[in-house]
Amino acid sequence: MENDLRSMPTNTPCIMVIFGAAGDLTKRKLIPALYNLKKGDLLSDNFAVIGVARAELNDEEFRRRLRDDMKHFATDKVDEKVWKWLEERLYYFSGNFTDDQTFTRLRELLEKTDQERQAEGNYFFYLATAPEYFAPVVEKLGAIGLTREEDSHWRRVVIEKPFGRNLESAKKLNQEIKQVLNEDQIYRIDHYLGKETVQNILVFRFGNGIFEPIWNRRYIECVQITAAEKVGVEQRGGYYEGAGALRDMVPNHLLQLVTLTAMEPPISFDADAVRDEQAKILHAIQHPSPEEAAERVVRGQYDAGEIEGEKVPGYRSEPNVASDSTVETFVALKLLIDNWRWADVPFYLRTGKRLAARDTEIAIQFKRAPFMLFRNTPVERLSSNRLVLHIQPDEGISLRFGAKVPGPTVSIGAVDMDFDYEDYFGDTPSTGYERLLHDCMVGDATLFQRADQVEAGWSVVAPIQEAWKTAPPPDFPNYQAGSWGPKEADELLRRDGAEWEETQDVRQNRLR
Ligand code: BG6
Repeated sequence: MENDLRSMPTNTPCIMVIFGAAGDLTKRKLIPALYNLKKGDLLSDNFAVIGVARAELNDEEFRRRLRDDMKHFATDKVDEKVWKWLEERLYYFSGNFTDDQTFTRLRELLEKTDQERQAEGNYFFYLATAPEYFAPVVEKLGAIGLTREEDSHWRRVVIEKPFGRNLESAKKLNQEIKQVLNEDQIYRIDHYLGKETVQNILVFRFGNGIFEPIWNRRYIECVQITAAEKVGVEQRGGYYEGAGALRDMVPNHLLQLVTLTAMEPPISFDADAVRDEQAKILHAIQHPSPEEAAERVVRGQYDAGEIEGEKVPGYRSEPNVASDSTVETFVALKLLIDNWRWADVPFYLRTGKRLAARDTEIAIQFKRAPFMLFRNTPVERLSSNRLVLHIQPDEGISLRFGAKVPGPTVSIGAVDMDFDYEDYFGDTPSTGYERLLHDCMVGDATLFQRADQVEAGWSVVAPIQEAWKTAPPPDFPNYQAGSWGPKEADELLRRDGAEWEETQDVRQNRLR
């Protein structure tokens, strides 16, 4: 996996077909990402986009809408020349995804556009639709021959999350799409892997000699992964009622962070070499019994509260949410990985909406020094070394160690050594989708999920889903908006003699 896109084959002629082109993802992420790719000279002149959705629009209207949307969603000031270039290559096609006619007409349009743009027959279909259309669209694309590859051209399909609702539905979806596509044509996207700092975990671990020798159970006490959001469910109550925090965040985003933190060095940075190692970690995660699941997993739902001085409603009062909903908006859990590197090292994960801060980070807590040399500081008062990989919003890495507090006696204080991405590399405007779209165009699937990974991810949460089916949810709502979740999440760690690390945002506010 190279960090510099320029060192890869770029400028591949191709056509991107977006199903669900009138939706949020297209305007917020995909089009701004394509714009950024062009700005970085990473799109071929022989490139075009065909947006497909039900709404009746023509090309001109589609372009005008997206031009307006760019005012809100571009990551940088829009350069007219770059936008013009992209705009000329945007086409719109109105159709119903369940209608065979749509696909016959789409094929004609693709052939015509391909001739005009000289795209060499390379197409990728981006399914930004509701999940119930994933399998039917793939089936219809296959039936009409649009997924057939030849030596001279490739065909790929990008599938957004959620990939299934549980292990059975993920397996079923895999089976359905694999009747039409080969595994190497399927790009299951997890947008967390588009984040620079997530990609940097591998570079940090395997591009430096000093960390790997201590990256194991002999030196590491525990790993804590937090993905905290200040926002509530916003306008997505309908979706969230069928999902909840566990499904929404754990088998995908949080397990990506676990696997990248815990995996063995791959034998190369080939897509399958990296993904094999990630999959091994997923398979090594202990499956708890229902009793263990009840002990190791905490769920919560937010009540009304205050965030940044503003009153916000509880989850049950959000639009499209049942007034007696038992859906969780917070989950904290303890995972154990049964292998030689990690046996007995707890991985604590927590994620939730309407928490006190927006912070995603991985904190690696090292074991304390074995005995105390300094008379005035008992060993249990020494803070342990901690390495934090900040994923967002402030991207960086910090290392905490003990230092002598100046003065005539020896007393030890904890200090942080900080690396901030922006300070070193400047601000690179990005939506997080540039790398993923580009990788799909050049055929690098490293940052996409293979079928076995997705299924293994679901099988990690399956025992929890199972346990929750029979155990009634705790008294919801059980945490206030603007807090750090239910008190049981603290108890989960306290039982092991640990506590949640302060996240970057909290730390910075304390120091201010
Ligand atoms: C999405 C979830 O996949 O990820 C959302 O469906 C969540 O509920 C989002 O808010 C978080 O992503 P990010 O990039 O904002 O941290």
